[in-house]
Amino acid sequence: MNYENILVEQENSIQVITINRPSKLNALNKATIEELSHALIASDKDTSVRVVIITGAGEKAFVAGADISEFSDFSVEEGKDLSKKGHDQLFSLIDQMKTPVIAAVNGFALGGGLELAMAAHIRIFSENARVGLPETSLGVIPGYGGTQRLAQIAGKGRAMEMILSAEMINASKALDYGITNNVVPLEELIDSAKKMAQKIIKNSPMALATAIQCVNANYAPGVDGMAYEINAFGNCFGTEDFTEGTRAFIEKRKANF
Ligand code: COA
Repeated sequence: MNYENILVEQENSIQVITINRPSKLNALNKATIEELSHALIASDKDTSVRVVIITGAGEKAFVAGADISEFSDFSVEEGKDLSKKGHDQLFSLIDQMKTPVIAAVNGFALGGGLELAMAAHIRIFSENARVGLPETSLGVIPGYGGTQRLAQIAGKGRAMEMILSAEMINASKALDYGITNNVVPLEELIDSAKKMAQKIIKNSPMALATAIQCVNANYAPGVDGMAYEINAFGNCFGTEDFTEGTRAFIEKRKANF
């Protein structure tokens, strides 16, 4: 697939995917969602990719939302289809990836932009980041997981405040709300995400993938998270990574995963 709306670069084991529609503040149109989906499925299958960083082109926006011009005349059925496809193709896909995904939020992350950042496993914001779920101001609600993930990440009261007011918050409030793990100057954002990635890469890819699944199990309807963890913990014992990790500790050397 030829990408027209994203850039994919890899340095060692870290892949950086840049959403590249700066003239539209990187708004997520259908083509961009399809390209992101295609690239991320490939990344998750590629064992040379150990961490993915998603960011936006330019200094103004990560992603200013779903592309409003594409859905303003949609019917009820088309609206449902838009949301379902988005969940399946991109937002749930990221959440459930085996490869850890870091969102490096370099400015506005609104609507689908904040939903994209929240689908990632870790978020780092630049100081100029401004984020919100403004959908109720457009006569709609967040449809790419925002009503669920914001409440999970920031708590119900804060999610209600942000969704019902439709207002943006700045990076320091987002840090206070637990929406971002860290806030750094814009010029340090990608390096900071890469430093985080380096810490992750030292660890077992099998254990990372399993840990992501277990944390997610807490939020999966009808799943007993503790039982899920017990089973997944046991399964680790049958892997080469477990043998290597524990042997390296006993031999006082770094594990080679
Ligand atoms: N969908 C489609 N186009 C968008 C967009 C979106 N979500 N967000 C921004 N754009 C486009 C604008 O239409 C404009 O395009 P144009 O130059 O062809 O007219 C361009 O990006 C620049 O945006 P502009 O509004 O001129 O920048 P600004 O600095 O004045 O305002 C924002 C920045 C982010 C406050 C404003 O763009 C905004 O409110 N965007 C929509 C946010 C939103 O509601 N997102 C949720 C969607 S569900």
